[in-house]
Amino acid sequence: MTIRRLPEGLVNRIAAGEVVERPAAAVKELVENAIDASATRIDVALREGGASLIIVADDGIGMSAEDLALAIERHATSKLLEDDLVRIRTLGFRGEALPAIGAVSRLSIASRRRGSADCWSIAVEGGTAHSLTPASGGEGTRVEVRDLFYATPARLKFLKAPRTELDHAIDVVERLAMAHPAIAFTLAEGERTRVRLPAVSGDWETARLERLGAVLGRDFAANALSIAAEREGHRLTGFAGLPTLNRGTSAGQYLFVNGRPVKDKLLLGAVRGAYQDFLARDRHPVLALFLDLPPEAVDVNVHPAKAEVRFREAGLVRGLIVGALKHALAEAGHRASTTVAESALSAFRPNTYAAPLPGRPSRGLAERAQAFYAPLPGTDHPVAAPTETGPQEPSSFPLGAARAQLHGTYIVAQTADGLVIVDQHAAHERLVYERMKEALANGGIHRQALLLPEVVELDEAAAGRLLARAEELRELGLVLEPFGAGAVVVREVPALLGQLDATGLVRDLADELTEFGQALSLKEKLEEVAGTLACHGSVRAGRMLNAEEMNALLRQMEATPHSGQCNHGRPTYVELKLADIERLFGRR
Ligand SMILES: Nc1ncnc2c1ncn2[C@@H]1O[C@H](COP(=O)(O)OP(=O)(O)OP(=O)(O)O)[C@@H](O)[C@H]1O
Ligand SMILES: [Mg+2]
Repeated sequence: MTIRRLPEGLVNRIAAGEVVERPAAAVKELVENAIDASATRIDVALREGGASLIIVADDGIGMSAEDLALAIERHATSKLLEDDLVRIRTLGFRGEALPAIGAVSRLSIASRRRGSADCWSIAVEGGTAHSLTPASGGEGTRVEVRDLFYATPARLKFLKAPRTELDHAIDVVERLAMAHPAIAFTLAEGERTRVRLPAVSGDWETARLERLGAVLGRDFAANALSIAAEREGHRLTGFAGLPTLNRGTSAGQYLFVNGRPVKDKLLLGAVRGAYQDFLARDRHPVLALFLDLPPEAVDVNVHPAKAEVRFREAGLVRGLIVGALKHALAEAGHRASTTVAESALSAFRPNTYAAPLPGRPSRGLAERAQAFYAPLPGTDHPVAAPTETGPQEPSSFPLGAARAQLHGTYIVAQTADGLVIVDQHAAHERLVYERMKEALANGGIHRQALLLPEVVELDEAAAGRLLARAEELRELGLVLEPFGAGAVVVREVPALLGQLDATGLVRDLADELTEFGQALSLKEKLEEVAGTLACHGSVRAGRMLNAEEMNALLRQMEATPHSGQCNHGRPTYVELKLADIERLFGRR
């Protein structure tokens, strides 16, 4: 074996493998270049999800003929002014994107420098550069990428369906657009415009919220808390969704470092940590956070697509994010509680009797006891009325007879030798899953038509993902049809769910489909799907149940296999034996 230097074309193709791993990656590089060139509008056009054609046109500063010839050469950049990688203020800095794209496609660039009369163009095909030719065009730059990966057939084979590639490209453009509200963006695929974001003016914070709302939906703008915190030159701003605005995946988390969209593990971990006390483990907040820090405090040169970064003060960054989010959430007054078997017991603490306030004549014990038990004047019953024992003799059922519902979430039942607390939502989720499994095995899930079909507004990508799986969803009892751009209409729902929040359900399913990918059928993911369905069915947390409904749920749980825990492993009920209770009161 002898060592040889690889020819430049091959070197570029190898580099391209890292930088341009799919059409959306090329879109990202080209749009970033346009942003770096101070464009005020950027228009993207794709064909076949970008596989056969990508056009990115901007009205930025453009390039002179000499610059244009250099731009396609490897390691040629106008952005590293100081020959060091410490103070990077642009999105690009490596001088690698254009030659990498040119190595694996048919690339042509036309550009006219601002204030110049001449427009020039240059082309590169599979790594071979052609000479400059005069062209026509306005100020700015227009880049065309045809037949991406034609020069690397191995990579071509890994391309996903155009739909999927398109979704990725839309995501890329939307993420960049969130950080740059003053720039107008469009993205069209074939004849259809998929993204249209007009430039937003006004003060920075308002402009940004408006742009975020345009991308994430009006829901977000209305349900987001403003975040602003600073520590040692690290500034965190943005908007964090209330815990109630949660999703099935972390796809709704948009994080930016110095204006650069990242999917950084440290940042995602900090977000998870901050919301931990407010959300169930399988739910994810929606938010857009912008971290700005001195360029020298972050290394952006650690990931081929620049998606991850490294912080000099990782602990500081984490602390800043967790602190700012927790503070905002606590101020919003939202809290979530969890019930786990062990902690239930330790939470039952003997109540120390409060001494009478000084200066107040102390009343007799009997009198105080009476005042304690009497209903408060003018208040509604905070709990469901106690049920008649009647046929629900406590001793006859393992989960006992329902006595009350607390906080719209927990059913308290009396058993022969203790009490049971049921998390009604978790229990329902389990029941839905088991019944769907059974119904599928026995020839299908019953559907129920909605009297008023419900229109659900989504974004294009989400609607597309759902409709692509409409056939499978129908089998699971959910009938969806397209309804104009970016919306679907829900016509039928699984009968076993009862009343249903169709909008919430459809949104969550769309989120989940991103996570499942194409490889798995929904039946293989039935647990997750059933969990999502149950989340929006009639027994969700927060719904008042009457005695009959509560007892019905208990009886169904007894009759259902694996009903002791929900689909995500949380217990569906905890039991306290009388003996435990007696121990708490020192009777044993
Ligand atoms: N849309 C554009 N408008 C004006 N100049 C551009 C544009 N696109 C590229 N250039 C010029 O071409 C050079 C090379 O672009 P390229 O994307 O290959 O590298 P880069 O942006 O410098 O670094 P990176 O590889 O990190 O993206 C840029 O430094 C810039 O000067
Ligand atoms: Mg670049």
